[in-house]
Parts: sequence; structure tokens; C-alpha cells
Amino acid sequence: MNQQELLDKAREGLANAYCPYSKFPVSAILVCEDGSVVHGVNVENASYGGTICAERSALCSAVSAGHRKFKSITIVTNLDTPASPCGLCRQFMVEFGNYEVVMGGANGSVEVSTTAKLLPFAFTPASLDEFNSQANNNK
Ligand code: THU
Repeated sequence: MNQQELLDKAREGLANAYCPYSKFPVSAILVCEDGSVVHGVNVENASYGGTICAERSALCSAVSAGHRKFKSITIVTNLDTPASPCGLCRQFMVEFGNYEVVMGGANGSVEVSTTAKLLPFAFTPASLDEFNSQANNNK
């Protein structure tokens, strides 16, 4: 699927968002390393803090299906301006490496970035690897 097809597919997915409280649907599509695609939507909760964003929802589904490496994530909302992922989702996305982040606005505008650019100076699995390889890590 090319970028426009992914944006269109993601937009179709907005109908599945469960957002009775915010009424702000978000839909995300991951392209996995093997080319398969995995969808996610935001899933809200009456206990508001229990809400999961579309990006994390897609990643949880993908990881549950055995995927660990991704080529891109495409995110759409009904905002004209492409919506940028929240901080928690940036942390969750960069856990799985540096890959493309495509954000689509309802008026057809598109922003393209990467997980690394969206979260500079990130704490990642490499930080823990470095700690584990230090001689003085109090083992
Ligand atoms: N939301 C996402 O799904 N992704 C983001 O990156 C930002 C926010 C959702 C969470 C909540 O259901 C609604 O948008 C309003 O915050």
C-alpha cells in the first residue's frame, strides 16, 4: 500500500474508534517489517485514565500478533491539521525503533516524521542495554 492508500485505510478505521467521551476519533495503521498491516483506534473508558490511544492500540495488536519491527505508522483524525502523537505514544512507538510516522489531516494535508525525530534524546531499550553492559551496575 502506498502512502495515500494507507491514509485512506486509516481514515476508514475512524468509524471503529470507541470515543464516547471525547468524541475525537483517532485511527492508526502500522506497516510491519513483513509488509502486513495492523490497525488500531483509540479505546476510551468511563474511568478516563484507562483510555488507550490509537497508536498504542495498534502497537499492542501488532506485538500480540508477533510483530516487533515496523516500517511506518500512519495516524489520522478529523482535524484539518495533522494531529501529532501524544508523549506517551511517542515513548511507546520509539520502543520498537526508528520508523516513519505519517500524520494525515482531514483536509488532505500530510506531515511526515520519524519516531526518533518525534522523541529526541529518548530513553530506549539501548539505555538499558548500556546499563547492563556497565561494569559498575551494582549486580
Ligand atoms: N488520542 C489518540 O488516540 N492518540 C494521540 O496521540 C492523542 C490522543 C486519543 C485519546 C482520546 O481518546 C482522544 O484522542 C482525546 O484525547
